[in-house]
Amino acid sequence: MALRSIREANFENQKVLARMDFNVELNNIGQVQEHFKLDVLKKTIDYILGFSGVKVAMLTHFGRPLGKPRTAGKPNGKNDPNYSVAKLVPAIEQALGRKVIFVSDCIGKNVEKALENLPSGSLLLLENVRFYLEEEANDEKFAKTLAKPFDIYVNDAFGVDHRNHASLTTITKFLPSYAGMRVLEEVERFDQILFSPKRPAVAIIGGAKIETKLPLIRVFEEKYDYTLVGGKVANEAIDQKIVFSEKVFLPQDFDSSLRLDIGPDTIVRYTQVIKTAKTIVWNGPMGKFEEKPYNTGTDALLRAVLESGAFIVIGGGESLTMLEEAGVMDKIGFVSSGGGAMLEYLGGKKLPGLEVLEA
Ligand code: 3PG
Repeated sequence: MALRSIREANFENQKVLARMDFNVELNNIGQVQEHFKLDVLKKTIDYILGFSGVKVAMLTHFGRPLGKPRTAGKPNGKNDPNYSVAKLVPAIEQALGRKVIFVSDCIGKNVEKALENLPSGSLLLLENVRFYLEEEANDEKFAKTLAKPFDIYVNDAFGVDHRNHASLTTITKFLPSYAGMRVLEEVERFDQILFSPKRPAVAIIGGAKIETKLPLIRVFEEKYDYTLVGGKVANEAIDQKIVFSEKVFLPQDFDSSLRLDIGPDTIVRYTQVIKTAKTIVWNGPMGKFEEKPYNTGTDALLRAVLESGAFIVIGGGESLTMLEEAGVMDKIGFVSSGGGAMLEYLGGKKLPGLEVLEA
């Protein structure tokens, strides 16, 4: 998929709205969990700030303040401080290596004033765009208001590009719009592993929700040499008697009758396949890996994957946690910053946030 690249834009003396995906998980003491998601956005910021006289404001969603709560028990509602992006400032400053100034709204006079006073080399962080119902309703007037103080729009929010929201799609009607470095890289890597993978090519699909994973399994069933299925998805596929070709492997045994992990025979069979691979795409764990001993299957496969020498692509929220916990993030060829967006892109769906950036 060819996108309009930020390399085509001249940012000199321009006011830039950079749509990011700073939607990170926090731990129970409010610390950011997914530093990776923030770190990958530095390239785009450094590139834009390389132009003289440029001013950049970053915009993001954070949780679902008006929808279902991200953490059970937390209240919903507009301007709920639990969903304010102000708390992300230290982690973003660390990831981007720049001073970040928080603005308590994402539209209006405050934004215009903050842009005027922005010291060179610093960045603005606008308040959670999902505090406005109009964002998810993809309201055109709201998109126009968001765009008003700016000259150029950059989308580097791959993880949310499967949403048809005002700050991702309709806003591009009002500003010259470009894809950021991270978005370009995600699309390039995915196209390469989908259309010209080195063979044998192996997909490992786990996690939950057969409805969302089945399209992905079908794509790899057609394109790849082997697809190894585990986790709750495998249980659901077995229970629903879904029929696959012989290139798709389902577990032949489990840890116990509870089926919380793949069993020893399955581990041996899957590991043998992984050893032969030149390309491996992995999405979702093989069991309830966050609880010992149900991490056995996932850990064994991860070891085999790392030893295989294959080009490895991994994505999805749970998969990132798995990599961070194992401390092997840097050993992976390409880690996607998208969860749902990765599934939809690889599953062959058109992503609204990318469609509007097509060259
Ligand atoms: C994510 O964390 O997967 C993205 O930021 C998208 O978030 P959403 O599912 O709340 O739209």
